[in-house]
Amino acid sequence: MPKIRPDQTPEGTAESTETCASGAQSEPNAERATHVAVIMDGNGRWAQSRGKPRLFGHHAGAKRVKEIVRACPDLGVKYLTIFAFSTENWKRTQTEVSGLMSLFRRYIQSELKGLVAEGVRVRFIGDRPRLDNKLIALMDELESVTCENSKVHLTIAINYGGRDEVSRAIKEMARDVKTGVLDPETVDETTLTRYLDTRVLPDPDLVIRTSGEARISNFLLWQSAYSEYEFIDTLWPDFTAEVFADCMARFAHRDRRFGGVKS
Ligand code: IPE
Ligand code: IPE
Ligand code: MG
Repeated sequence: MPKIRPDQTPEGTAESTETCASGAQSEPNAERATHVAVIMDGNGRWAQSRGKPRLFGHHAGAKRVKEIVRACPDLGVKYLTIFAFSTENWKRTQTEVSGLMSLFRRYIQSELKGLVAEGVRVRFIGDRPRLDNKLIALMDELESVTCENSKVHLTIAINYGGRDEVSRAIKEMARDVKTGVLDPETVDETTLTRYLDTRVLPDPDLVIRTSGEARISNFLLWQSAYSEYEFIDTLWPDFTAEVFADCMARFAHRDRRFGGVKS
């Protein structure tokens, strides 16, 4: 994502610095979640319960993404952010990590045309330099060919960690202070927001985690300060559009107070 100057806001002016308009407007919606973020967990267990290798589960999980993206417009979801690989997932076996990297490459190649045709704008968040050059090139290409789209904003988190993102943002802020671009006396919450990978996205309204684990595993730490959470038992490869719709129906009944009191 291109650098946004510290005097710009995450929305509005920030868009003009992207190669094409992002359409990233956060419109508060009392009943519908405009931005849904998903921790797609449980692929390994799904495969193992079928006596298959973990990568079989990752392939089944990748197939689910298309259905979920397609369901977004009818559910009022404008932004969908999915956690595909964390900064901690490098701890897995070499076989699993390289299998996932090759899955990401193949996924981009096979989905590229469909995503363009279906009006999906794709962005990636996370620390790219650790990824292989071929994958980085494909990610850049997918971002660029979909950058005129605005029906659904799909953000894919690869080599993403919330703490890593905040550390990288602070490093960049420190550099800007050093070069005189940023006055430290002006730093506030919105300043940091503008240095994050997610700078052009609104905060998630709802974070869904599949597979029964009730933790956030370093996902969108800063951005989810006031998100609603859904921890559901369904394993990611079984997460259908119907299960998604059920999560959204429950969200509609949440009472979001943001620290205030409803009169
Ligand atoms: C989530 O599924 C996908 C990634 C982390 C890449 P897992 O691979 O974590 O599946 P479980 O949690 O082991 O079942
Ligand atoms: C979180 O799942 C990361 C992704 C879904 C990509 P993990 O399976 O890595 O999380 P932990 O290890 O159970 O916390
Ligand atoms: Mg897991």
